[in-house]
Amino acid sequence: MSASSWFTLRWNEGAVELLDQTRLPEEEHYLRLDQVEDLAQAIERLSVRGAPAIGVAAAMGVALGAFNSMADGAEALRSELETEVIPRLRATRPTAVNLFWALDRMQARLREDSGPAKSGADAVRERLLEEAQKILSEDIQTCHQIGQAGLEVVEAGARILTHCNAGALATAGYGTALGVVRAAREAGLGVSVLADETRPLLQGARLTAWELQRDQIPVRVCTDNMAASMMQGGQVDMVVVGADRIAANGDVVNKIGTYGVAVLAQAHGIPFYVAAPLSTIDRSVASGAEIPIEVRDREEVARIGNRVVLPEGVEVEQPAFDVTPCRLVTGIVTEAGVLRAPYESAIVAAFQDS
Ligand code: MRU
Repeated sequence: MSASSWFTLRWNEGAVELLDQTRLPEEEHYLRLDQVEDLAQAIERLSVRGAPAIGVAAAMGVALGAFNSMADGAEALRSELETEVIPRLRATRPTAVNLFWALDRMQARLREDSGPAKSGADAVRERLLEEAQKILSEDIQTCHQIGQAGLEVVEAGARILTHCNAGALATAGYGTALGVVRAAREAGLGVSVLADETRPLLQGARLTAWELQRDQIPVRVCTDNMAASMMQGGQVDMVVVGADRIAANGDVVNKIGTYGVAVLAQAHGIPFYVAAPLSTIDRSVASGAEIPIEVRDREEVARIGNRVVLPEGVEVEQPAFDVTPCRLVTGIVTEAGVLRAPYESAIVAAFQDS
């Protein structure tokens, strides 16, 4: 589908190439980044964003750091990556756990002792690139599995409300929430999407609408404050969103505004599903209250595009994410199937089976 005409990110001859999401939908511009610092800044300014996609980007950043390093021994290379490259990438964004999950995987591969024949710096470089490529291809495969699992909960003709962008742009391809939509379309279920515009950075309007339109999947956009009346008017059959981090008890951290949508869905008796890979579940945090919420720059609220929409000197609130309590979640669609409450035990079982 989408992968044929555009891509979110890839490794190409010593550099990470990615579609600059800050410029969509006006411009389809690919960045070619061959320095770790440039990649770190691209993650920070959301040129690449969405939990799984930043995990893949960070993994590629480690490979980039390895190939750029002048270290000629495996030990020197390991130390450089562990003291400079990995900490820099870890510091880019605090909430999406896939970033840390991917970096931990890279670090484990880095530390692997693969015997004297393979202990040179070049062998380490090769195996890091191989691991980053594996994280990317597994992510696409996992999204397809999430899509298939989601078929269990999608009815023919469903009008699906989503918030932010949990699509191909937020992953290595296909998407999580939009993976469910794509799978449903491929299964002939004739579903359509209602995308919340998702202020302040408009991921719903700019990104979700863009990628669905590219795939000829019916999509309409509503402003965030319209969701309640759309539900009241019977125009929403279900909600499917992504997640940046899910706690051990099933609380979901996702783009700011998700909690409000979940409350509205409950008030209107509309099922509220979260679609995410198991790598988004952080079993080390007991509940959503323990998950760090990124606070972003005032300017993102104070401006819409180039237009200043706030009087100078007025303060803003700018948390990038919120916590949806697990009691509002109808189900969590993962590659291991649809998890249902009580989430604590469902999550433990899903990890045991995986
Ligand atoms: O700040 P962003 O654009 O990175 O936030 C992204 C989201 O909140 C997504 O819904 C989430 O990462 C899931 S992506 C499959």
